[in-house]
Amino acid sequence: MKDSQAKATLLSNYKIPDFLINETLLKFELFETHAIVDSSLQFFRNVEGADELVLDGQDLELISLEIEGQPIPAGSYEVTESSLTILNLAKILNKDPDKFTLKCVTRIEPQNNTALECLYKSKRMFCTQCEAEGFRRITYYLDRPDVMSKFTTTIIADKASYPTLLSNGNLVASKDLDVDGQDSVRHLATWEDPFKKPSYLFALVAGNLSCKEDVFSTASEREVALKIFVEDKDVNKIDHAMDSLKRAMKWDEEVYGREYDLDTFMIVAVDDFNMGAMENKGLNIFNTSCVLANPLTTTDAAFQRVEAVVAHEYFHNWSGNRVTCRDWFQLSLKEGFTVYRDAEFSARMGSPVVKRIEDVSFLQTVQFAEDSGPMSHPVRPDSYIEISNFYTVTIYEKGAEVVRMINLLLGDAQFRKGSDLYFERHDGQAVTTEDFVCAMEDSSGEDLSLFRRWYSQAGTPRLEINGHYDESEKTYTLDVSQSCLPTPGQDKKLTFHIPLKIGLLDKLGNDMPLLQRENEELLEIDCVLNVTNENQRFVFVNVEESPIPSLLRGFSAPVTLGFQYTREELSFLAAHDNDGFNKWNAGQLLFLDVIDELLKMNSNNENLFIPSCLYTTFNCVLESALTNQECDKALLAYLLTVPSIPFLIERSDVANVSALYKVREFILESLAFRFKIELERIYFDTAESLINPLSVSGDDIGRRMLKNLCLSYLAYTDKGLSLCESQLRSSRNMTDQTAALRGILNSGDENAEVLRESVVLEFYERWKDEPLVIDNWFSLQATSSLPGGLGRVETLLSHEAFTLKNPNKVRALIGAFCGQNANNFHLPGGEGYKFLADQVLKLDAINPQIAARLLVPLTRFKKFEPSARALMLNQINRIKATNSLSKDVFEIVEKCTI
Ligand code: BES
Ligand code: ZN
Repeated sequence: MKDSQAKATLLSNYKIPDFLINETLLKFELFETHAIVDSSLQFFRNVEGADELVLDGQDLELISLEIEGQPIPAGSYEVTESSLTILNLAKILNKDPDKFTLKCVTRIEPQNNTALECLYKSKRMFCTQCEAEGFRRITYYLDRPDVMSKFTTTIIADKASYPTLLSNGNLVASKDLDVDGQDSVRHLATWEDPFKKPSYLFALVAGNLSCKEDVFSTASEREVALKIFVEDKDVNKIDHAMDSLKRAMKWDEEVYGREYDLDTFMIVAVDDFNMGAMENKGLNIFNTSCVLANPLTTTDAAFQRVEAVVAHEYFHNWSGNRVTCRDWFQLSLKEGFTVYRDAEFSARMGSPVVKRIEDVSFLQTVQFAEDSGPMSHPVRPDSYIEISNFYTVTIYEKGAEVVRMINLLLGDAQFRKGSDLYFERHDGQAVTTEDFVCAMEDSSGEDLSLFRRWYSQAGTPRLEINGHYDESEKTYTLDVSQSCLPTPGQDKKLTFHIPLKIGLLDKLGNDMPLLQRENEELLEIDCVLNVTNENQRFVFVNVEESPIPSLLRGFSAPVTLGFQYTREELSFLAAHDNDGFNKWNAGQLLFLDVIDELLKMNSNNENLFIPSCLYTTFNCVLESALTNQECDKALLAYLLTVPSIPFLIERSDVANVSALYKVREFILESLAFRFKIELERIYFDTAESLINPLSVSGDDIGRRMLKNLCLSYLAYTDKGLSLCESQLRSSRNMTDQTAALRGILNSGDENAEVLRESVVLEFYERWKDEPLVIDNWFSLQATSSLPGGLGRVETLLSHEAFTLKNPNKVRALIGAFCGQNANNFHLPGGEGYKFLADQVLKLDAINPQIAARLLVPLTRFKKFEPSARALMLNQINRIKATNSLSKDVFEIVEKCTI
């Protein structure tokens, strides 16, 4: 790490660019040993008096540089590690530098690029990843999102190895090039993108790919050609992505009035990719894990992920590409909004309640943890060292929650008007989150001045609520107070504008009318309360009986909530709440309450026992599964799910992982024994109702979820192992095989050991030609909670199918182990922490972005007991003391040790 690289970029230093680029002409000549990039940029001056042009550029070999057709004399420009500066433009040009053309040739080595940004090779394919700042490693450029230019790109490569040559926009020329005296034929393709775009949306692909085509007719009756490019062996796995794409295009027309704007929309799948997918204009590049899907090889969860990611990247065409970000501090403008859009799309395509439960669980587990740790930052950060580190759950998921709250406050009709105004007003521009909020305000007349603090203040607000019923007055009073703990750099927080959606339930579980008295008048109020002060009182009148409040319905704001419910009230809400999300949440709160009690028993060395109300509530859900065929099966599965260890860690002040694990296992085992018969019946009934094992309809996905949840309980009983084994051997469906394998790999049964070894080997032999199935196989082993996990993972590091160079493999093995196998990762001697630090250091030399992401579990040190915390910090300090760290890893260890 060089000190010069460790400098933070500040939002407060934002300046409009001195120069802009009208047109960008690029020519790529691709070879096995290098690539030559020829660029011709048409600049014009944007700030009067500017006479110095500073271009971004990194790890480039500069071959030539010309301005207005003349070579630039040495001494008239300066090259540093990260820039190229042309001094005294007026002098060189002999005129005011209002408009000029700069030509530049650079040489790069894509085949040696293991960081997987800019231009690199994934297997035998050339591809690019430019967001956020990868373009500057291709050629010298104004590599910032507020410089938008029209791109024309020519690609030249060997025709036999790279028959497919793609870039953004429309194909305008292609031909073979005959070169005398050369054996192989090279060919050329030229692409022109009519829409101005920032460099981060540039893309290029050259490879030997198969393509599946379809068409979509837009609302205004234009035909769009849809093309998905994959390796030949994967063409049987793209129907689902194609169908998802068409559904997403239709949904965006219907719900947001947004049509696609080019004649072609292309998706390319690549094996080696740092992220899930990338929204390059007209040419999205996807991690194979987010496009390929076939029920024989793909789990239901992966099917749903493909649909969501395809939609997400497609939606960026408007929220991101047509209207883009002014600078990277505005990242949530496109990511938060687009995650909100894809979440609403997925909700519509499946079960809205289930989607909400999944998203909120993720937010509460991962984002809340980030927001209470050293990397906590606002949805619109004020500074960063390495922007790649800011593609975070806060920018994405909390950012999406902020947009969701705006929708809730404005209502659907006004929200749509606001989004129409935003797209119309800013089409073709690079703007800020402030512009987004203004459009919402201007179109609706709503005042969002307080609300804006959600963008600038980090941390998770907390609501403490007390309820009081006055029998004689027939009033119910809610006293609400809000607070938010300090976060790095923000000691004092101002109050937030928190939309608190509520209901009051009567004894039968019906919602009572919400009446308030204002100046002697009775007012029926909306169920969304506006909490804006530190302390606020809401009084409801004509409340005929003491109600049970249902608070924060639908998780109406990303906050934590304190309200003293009795266990009876929680059971009641779990059975009766009319808000599906809160019904689930009440059950979870009951589990949490019981877990807290068991933790106390455990630390007092008492015998653990389960309070009866938990059995009653659990039984109630089982009953409805057994009697009501119409129930949403996925929802039932979630109602029967005990909170995860990572979630339990996040909500502890100081987590004792082994105690949490012990208590959680005790609950699972107790429920399994108590309800063995019911669970078996649901298991077999549901299995029977699954007629087509390869169907991935929403209903069948729900059925499998419920069935496999039952299997996970039954795995604790004497029949568990044989049920898992027979499901593994008889099922053709990958979700079912995965669930069965998971059961076997986690089974403490004495007879399991031999079986475990043989099924693991068999599975590998059967699927070794399917890399994505093998990722799943690595993860299943990495997350087995049986003792000895670290040793198993260390052995797998040298498995023939593992490589640190492929991010999917790293995530599947190391990421899954450190992030989802708490009791094996948090070994008392700190061996797990040392292992992670070793891997981070090895990876940092290969792929800094992935190394930095892998490091995240160590940054949660505050949550653990002092001994564990010290061991974690030791490893962080050990990393920090290493020479030549990347900016990515440096920034994180630095922030952990301030
Ligand atoms: N623009 C991002 C992808 C990206 C981010 C690439 C940072 C390179 C650096 C893309 O739109 C995205 O957000 N993808 C997500 C999936 C999505 C469904 C949230 C991803 O890749 O995980
Ligand atoms: Zn995105």
